[in-house]
Amino acid sequence: MKKILITGGAGFIGSHVVRLFVNNYPQYEIYNLDKLTYAGNLFNLTDIENKPNYHFIKADIVDGEHIMQLFEQHRFDDVIHLAAESHVDRSIANPMEFIMANIVGTVNLLNAAKFYWKDDFENKRFYHISTDEVYGSLGDTGFFTEDTPYDPHSPYSASKASSDHLVRAYHDTYNLPIVISNCSNNYGPNQFPEKLVPLFINNIRSNKPLPVYGKGENVRDWLYVIDHARAIDVIFHKGKDGETYNIGGHNEWTNIDLIKLLCQVMDEKLGRETGTSEKLITYVKDRAGHDLRYAIDSAKLQRELGWVPSLQFEEGIRLTVDWYLNNQEWLEEVTSGNYLKYYEEQYVKR
Ligand code: NAD
Ligand code: DAU
Repeated sequence: MKKILITGGAGFIGSHVVRLFVNNYPQYEIYNLDKLTYAGNLFNLTDIENKPNYHFIKADIVDGEHIMQLFEQHRFDDVIHLAAESHVDRSIANPMEFIMANIVGTVNLLNAAKFYWKDDFENKRFYHISTDEVYGSLGDTGFFTEDTPYDPHSPYSASKASSDHLVRAYHDTYNLPIVISNCSNNYGPNQFPEKLVPLFINNIRSNKPLPVYGKGENVRDWLYVIDHARAIDVIFHKGKDGETYNIGGHNEWTNIDLIKLLCQVMDEKLGRETGTSEKLITYVKDRAGHDLRYAIDSAKLQRELGWVPSLQFEEGIRLTVDWYLNNQEWLEEVTSGNYLKYYEEQYVKR
């Protein structure tokens, strides 16, 4: 039985990765380690929480001693590392939390893996999940490839860039068997409603203003979260040691076009007259250091490992809107903060 440590598995992308691994690989023991910050929500995993190959560990990756103890206790074979502070606006308001979780937390995991795997790197893998934001901002043309120089602009992207460098350094210096992927913007079910897509769905639903930063001309390359989880599966199993893989859907949208599409789909789903939701659009002060355009070239992943995205964007955005409208209880638990009590009730009191 392989023991795989997945960090950040109660978050948006992590919960989809945990579900995929628990369901598709009953021969693996999956350990979901999460601090359960405001972004970690165990409601995301109620459908698999009683499966025999699933285990939850509440822990903070910043606590290096605890991470060492957990490696001593469980002797993990592999790490798939997603835990991070992930919201750019929060990093602008409070950079230090990002330095601690994203940089120090990653080094604690690297040190534990290096220490416990030192005699045998055979069949071990440290897979670090990163972002396209490390590459900085593009002009009107071109794409980020795996060779694009790093040029991060926000405390979030700078902390992710630092963690990528450290993961590579542990490979080059200590031969730690690592692999890294850098993905574009994800959307889909279970995303915390501070990020553009779920925030705007929620605000449209409640007739609240839609705060568009600047002129809404920034471009993002959107990928359905389950396609990201599928890519992580492929890279974990088939990626080459020491390599980086870019993940993206070749699906660029200016924010304002995406927001107008969301408004249109929401009008349809809520039975509102076309144009009703667009009236909620409100232009607000731009985000500091706001990157203009991200666009990923995922040719290497497609060519070498055979991954392709499964969904067209219009279909994905409709599925996403349906999910949030059909899971209003989830949205209400998240917006009211009730979800924070779930761990206590489910795991501590029992
Ligand atoms: P998220 O904020 O939804 O989830 C992060 C999870 O990490 C939460 O469950 C949180 O509780 C946990 N966590 C945070 N700090 C922790 C700590 N100190 N110890 C243990 N757990 C901790 O994030 P997400 O959007 O799911 O992103 C997951 C990963 O994917 C991140 O590394 C992010 O940089 C990367 N990524 C995200 C996107 C995107 O569009 N969301 C795109 C590319 C890459
Ligand atoms: O590119 C990958 C990254 O995508 C991930 O690494 C990050 O973890 C993830 O949060 C995301 O970062 P962004 O900053 O691109 O996502 P966000 O949803 O915050 O914003 C998307 C775009 O929408 C961005 O140009 C800012 C804009 N925006 C966002 C919010 C929350 C608005 O105009 N108004 C808003 O209220």
